[in-house]
Amino acid sequence: MKDIETRVRDLMDKMTLEEKIGQTRQCGPSLVGAFEVDFSELLNMMFDGRISKEKFDELMAGAHQDLKEDDIRAGKIGSFNGVKGAEQVRTIQKIAVEESRLGIPLIIGSDVIHGYRTVTPIPLGESCAWEPSLWERTARISAEEAAADGIKWTFAPMVDVAKDARWGRISEGAGEDALLNGLYGAAKVRGFQTDDPSAKDSIAACVKHFAAYGAVEAGRDYNRVDMSEQKLREEYLPSYKASVEAGALTVMPAFNDISGVPCSCNSMLLTDILRKEWGFKGMTISDANAIAELVNHGAAADNAEAAAKAMEAGMDMDMTSEAYIENLAELIRSGAVSEEALDRAVADILRVKFELGLFDDPYYMAEDDPENHFLKPEYRTLAREAAQKSIVLLKNENVLPLNRGIRLGICGDLAGERAEMTGTWSINAVGDDCVSITDACEAQALPYTWFKTDLTAESGSFETLAKDCDVFIAAIGERKDESGEAASRTSIELPAEQIHMLEKLIATGKPVIAVVFNGRPLALTWVNDNVPAILEAWHPGVEAGNAILDLVFGDVNPSAKLTASFPYNAGMCPVYYDHINTGRPGGRGKFTSKYLDAPLTPVYPFGYGLSYTTYEYSDLQAEVTAEGIQVCVKVTNTGACAGDEIVQCYFRDPVAERVRPVRKLAAFDKITLQPGETKAVSFLIKKEQLGYWNSKMQFVVDSGDIEVYAGGCSTTELKAVVTI
Ligand code: GLC
Repeated sequence: MKDIETRVRDLMDKMTLEEKIGQTRQCGPSLVGAFEVDFSELLNMMFDGRISKEKFDELMAGAHQDLKEDDIRAGKIGSFNGVKGAEQVRTIQKIAVEESRLGIPLIIGSDVIHGYRTVTPIPLGESCAWEPSLWERTARISAEEAAADGIKWTFAPMVDVAKDARWGRISEGAGEDALLNGLYGAAKVRGFQTDDPSAKDSIAACVKHFAAYGAVEAGRDYNRVDMSEQKLREEYLPSYKASVEAGALTVMPAFNDISGVPCSCNSMLLTDILRKEWGFKGMTISDANAIAELVNHGAAADNAEAAAKAMEAGMDMDMTSEAYIENLAELIRSGAVSEEALDRAVADILRVKFELGLFDDPYYMAEDDPENHFLKPEYRTLAREAAQKSIVLLKNENVLPLNRGIRLGICGDLAGERAEMTGTWSINAVGDDCVSITDACEAQALPYTWFKTDLTAESGSFETLAKDCDVFIAAIGERKDESGEAASRTSIELPAEQIHMLEKLIATGKPVIAVVFNGRPLALTWVNDNVPAILEAWHPGVEAGNAILDLVFGDVNPSAKLTASFPYNAGMCPVYYDHINTGRPGGRGKFTSKYLDAPLTPVYPFGYGLSYTTYEYSDLQAEVTAEGIQVCVKVTNTGACAGDEIVQCYFRDPVAERVRPVRKLAAFDKITLQPGETKAVSFLIKKEQLGYWNSKMQFVVDSGDIEVYAGGCSTTELKAVVTI
């Protein structure tokens, strides 16, 4: 068989200008029905209360999807987003392959972010496992489910470094560190695509949102991003680069601008860095409607200029704005856009379709009922493992683990609301697939009473029933729609009724365990001061209740560590571990960098997490080698039960031409230790990890002292100093 480049070229030689432009168009199925307004306007009417949710649902029930069959037949569509189900995909694929002039297959994309039907913990939660092999395995099962249902491309992994808990999309990535996000993204790419992207159950990955979307000003979604190129390259680009280097076939530019140039028409990003510096050969796709939104940005006068700027900058495909299909032909004919730019875009798109095997096997989706491919027992087992490894033990004053058989007071609405366990971006999830805490108590025949957040219960008053409870487990936090896209918050406090519930539980004098469901770091200040045991559960997916009880009863020893700092309150945002020291580091003196009304340090720092056992670090050694700095540290399990410990290695360059962070994560490893066991853990800090961009934009590695740290949290003070 001819190689892919030859097949791409041969096909392009046959294509008309219209057919080429058709490939650059991704459509969502527009909804046509018994309502006069555009679907997006209908959504706005519901969101701002002009119609009720019930009325919206009634109108939607009367709607049908317009799959634009005639446009597919005419070769005017290259891709669909939001098409539901193998049958529907097979229908439109047959039109594209068997009825269009050149038979170019469609590529079907969707947001498969943390599971398809087997929903696993939200990415911010799963990242707390610090386990690339786990991240890859969960991506693999979501690809198998999605491909069976007709999806061949996921708009994931999201690897936006996020340091501001007010930003709702912090839920979708791997927290505040670039190295961790990069390892997370690379693992997801491997899991989605495997070594053979053309396999039936492989799907294309899409690294997003390129770039620095997590740095939106004030944590407000879609807001501006303004930073030096040095900061961009040191703190944000590495996570995208690692995911691209893992072989991602596609990249999605971000909605935001960077220092005034929107990513959607940013040639420095899309051509100079992505393609020329990193050698990316895949395809770029805009975010939803983002090309047309260049007009809102003020970077284009109209959709025609937006289309021209995006195409020339290196944007291959237009997600649903229609700016390309409506303007490119005229722009090419007038010379405003070069045919070379269009040919590059179309070649990128066709290359990805060939690499996915779509020309050879356009009907990759399940032949049998896709339901046969969902929620397999082994998928649920993995989802439970992922949740166990994502849940962080934040506090434990001799309360956990519990003994089975004691009578539980399960408190809070969230303890019984399955659908809330799926978290943000679980668009194919079915809420009832999830196991809530109360479901798990039922299934394990545990003696329990469920009290809603207002502490009402079906079988009597709290005062009466509480007497029979030995321990209270209080489910608190956020609903799934309070994080994710367009879900920024100016307050990250818990709702007053949840604090009130906790106060009443504490007043009983019985042990209280708080289980926090959330999509972002919350201000758990009061909870940390008043509740003796706290489990950070995130939105843990289909096996939520089972995994939580596994940890509560000690069947599993918690091992997760935070990948995002927990602020004292929203006023402290952004807060992150790899900060610089400043000329007046925060301290006791008045004239130092701190707040009058809050401590300077977060409630829980990056890398923090407890276990049912304890660990001791010793004998930190660091030695300069040709490759960089060889580090070795001993870790001992000084407690009474076995556990997994995430050993972290940081460094600091204390003196440099541009000041450097007080800590930077260099490497980590997760080890299992039996009680009393000691292991030596080695790391290599590669020389290039020590480098930075100086004021002249030269990448340099200074000679001089380097501080090396190792421990179970970013705040470790176990230090060695070497001179490079
Ligand atoms: C959304 C998100 C992006 C997602 C896309 C398609 O606006 O920004 O992450 O992949 O649209 O749903």
